[in-house]
Amino acid sequence: MTEENRTFKIQTANRRFLPFDSEKEKEWQGPFFFVQGADCQLGLTYRWTGTTRVACNPEMSMNWDVEMKATRAVIEKLNQMEPKPKFFIVCGDIVDAFDFEEPFRSRQEKDIKQIFSELDPSIPLVCVCGNHDVGDEPTRSSIQRYVDNFGDDYFDFYCGGVHCIVLNSQFYTHSANVEDLKLQHEQWLDEVLKDKQSKHIIIFQHIPWFLKSYDEEKDYFNVEINTRLKMLEKFHSAGVKKIFCGHYHRNTGGTYKSMEQVVTTAIGLQLGKDQSGVRLVRVTENDIEHQYFPTEDLPKNFL
Ligand SMILES: [Fe+2]
Repeated sequence: MTEENRTFKIQTANRRFLPFDSEKEKEWQGPFFFVQGADCQLGLTYRWTGTTRVACNPEMSMNWDVEMKATRAVIEKLNQMEPKPKFFIVCGDIVDAFDFEEPFRSRQEKDIKQIFSELDPSIPLVCVCGNHDVGDEPTRSSIQRYVDNFGDDYFDFYCGGVHCIVLNSQFYTHSANVEDLKLQHEQWLDEVLKDKQSKHIIIFQHIPWFLKSYDEEKDYFNVEINTRLKMLEKFHSAGVKKIFCGHYHRNTGGTYKSMEQVVTTAIGLQLGKDQSGVRLVRVTENDIEHQYFPTEDLPKNFL
């Protein structure tokens, strides 16, 4: 297939990730690696003043060339890797414009889907929803818009004996308009966490529970402390080993008991001193190791 013929396809249905055979992938098949990135967030750079994001109006001029270039550079590097990663997961804020910010939202969706379709077809792309993707104050329709464009807002899958659980973290930040959907998310999560057969359990989400310390104060980038502690304890007692997030536009992380939470900086706009890039994650029988790479430093082989 030529690159020109590739089109973006939604990869989830009924809260399952379609590219992986859910029975076969429950078996441990030996070490592998995958790639985790976050916050392509097409359009943020143009609207960032240095301290805040300005609202847009339909008449303003805007472009997202810089984020398209950064995302495309990652994809070109991943396409050159040998062996190929088992999957590439983008932990939210795929686009910047909210669902009501037209015409920018539609154009950003179209452009990022074009770039995602340039990923080698042997590398499944996993999309995770961020606050800009489903809305800071999500509604049924803002979530549906994400689902229609990028797939289910939460789901789970198995990959080589590892149970991967993708959350919609926006339910833990603002759920007033969608309390019924939040409840369904919690019931689903309790159900999937009951599976103790896999070699490792990994959670993927956009908003981190915390940035450096599990008992830190609430700020813009983390989750309110009571919800945070309740959920961290739930994950830890279910045997979760790692939680991978984005949203902070800086690399950071910390631990809760024996569980590690990893926050990966943006592919798009940096708010700290990191360079645009992605994290490579190597999974072995007893461990999960990870290393962040600026795009230009990505190796061809990570096994
Ligand atoms: Fe975000």
